[in-house]
Amino acid sequence: MTRGEDRIRTLGVGERPAPLDPELDLFRPPRLQRDALQDVTRLASGRVLVAEREGRTVGYLTFHPPGGVDATNARLGIIELGAVEVAPSERGRRVGERLLHAGFAEGAYDEAVVFATLFSWHYDLARSGLGPVAYRRMLLRFYARVGLEPVSTRDPEVLEDRANALLVRIGPRAPAGAIEVFERMRTEGRVTVGAPS
Ligand SMILES: CC(C)(COP(=O)(O)OP(=O)(O)OC[C@H]1O[C@@H](n2cnc3c(N)ncnc32)[C@H](O)[C@@H]1OP(=O)(O)O)[C@@H](O)C(=O)NCCC(=O)NCCS
Repeated sequence: MTRGEDRIRTLGVGERPAPLDPELDLFRPPRLQRDALQDVTRLASGRVLVAEREGRTVGYLTFHPPGGVDATNARLGIIELGAVEVAPSERGRRVGERLLHAGFAEGAYDEAVVFATLFSWHYDLARSGLGPVAYRRMLLRFYARVGLEPVSTRDPEVLEDRANALLVRIGPRAPAGAIEVFERMRTEGRVTVGAPS
């Protein structure tokens, strides 16, 4: 039997995603993650892409303002690519890649600095069968498909484990101010908390 294609789309503001696959449990229990995704749609610069199959969410990807701060950095053009998760039964079938491509399609973030943090404590080592360093390598290849590249940082949380990483994509028309603030966040502050004061 052939397997239907997953449908990829962006949720509307305040839209509740279809029930999550029961194995989308890496960051939170699926029921709570469903609420969290709905909350992200309401944030300034919040965006949630979902992959759906037969009325179920089987994968998602989020964009949001940098963690823990108000929308200042988002207004500047600094956006965090947040969680990305594909149900284990769907992995390795390019659902993740299609979510990424859909997220950046039509120059969506060409005027922004988009960054992502990789923390080994979020890695699905158990189900991937990979060690943390190999998992990091897999993720670097994965995010590189849309031009997110690793950069050095002094963020203590990123430095906590050598399998962590900070990735960035500087859009071709990113404002100089956003690039400058991100550089400061990266080299002086904590990218995960926001710009240094
Ligand atoms: C990272 C993740 C979103 C990728 O989604 P995906 O739909 O499997 O991605 P793709 O099919 O586009 O390919 C990803 C890579 O996984 C590899 N892969 C193949 N089969 C796989 C499987 N069964 N399980 C995991 N990875 C597999 C592929 O080799 C591919 O890398 P390559 O083409 O460079 O060799 C997914 O593995 C996942 O949900 N992981 C848990 C959450 C996570 O780690 N999030 C990011 C860090 S916070």
